[in-house]
Amino acid sequence: MKSYKKRDFPVSDIRRFLEPGPIVLVSSAHKGERNIMTMGWHTVMEFTPSLVGCMISGGNHSFELVSGSRECVINVPEAHLAATVAKIGNCSGADTDKFARFKLTALEADEVRAPLIAECYANLECKLVDGRLRDDFNFFVFEVVKAHAPASPKYPKTIHYRGDGMFMVSGRSLNLRRHFRPGML
Ligand SMILES: Cc1cc2nc3c(=O)[nH]c(=O)nc-3n(C[C@H](O)[C@H](O)[C@H](O)COP(=O)(O)O)c2cc1C
Repeated sequence: MKSYKKRDFPVSDIRRFLEPGPIVLVSSAHKGERNIMTMGWHTVMEFTPSLVGCMISGGNHSFELVSGSRECVINVPEAHLAATVAKIGNCSGADTDKFARFKLTALEADEVRAPLIAECYANLECKLVDGRLRDDFNFFVFEVVKAHAPASPKYPKTIHYRGDGMFMVSGRSLNLRRHFRPGML
């Protein structure tokens, strides 16, 4: 078995090990305004209903639009959009229309007013179902009410953040279905 020689590691940096993936783009719209932000701090919370928890910092312009509209779209980009994803996460929609600035196409969603981003692999239309942790933790619990994804490729080249400006791209797939109980697949 592999063993590791370890040193003390700053607890404030452990997010680098736990950072979930993939990095997504959250699009929102409210009162004639639309916006996009980059997000890594999300977690699946339930399958049925389909619940996803998201941390959207109170300092972000998106916080206002998502809070006001109680809706958003979680868009899953592939690796070819990585630089755009980084740039979108480093500017504010308060003073720029990020759809125009980054030449992204806003498509009408079916169930929410927030736009889908056409250039992303998958689009998840979300409605806020629980905002009780919003004020204390900037945490929103959304229900995914509609999802759009292509049949192929089955495994998109998603991007995952490693901290310190470094990303990794999803790679090799391992088929370990034989170790799974059917209900766990
Ligand atoms: C890789 C990456 C991941 C990020 N993850 C989050 C996140 O999970 N939550 C958050 O509030 N901000 C996150 N950010 C920061 C926002 O994307 C950033 O503050 C953005 O400029 C907010 O845009 P807005 O003010 O137009 O809403 C992330 C940024 C990057 C580059």
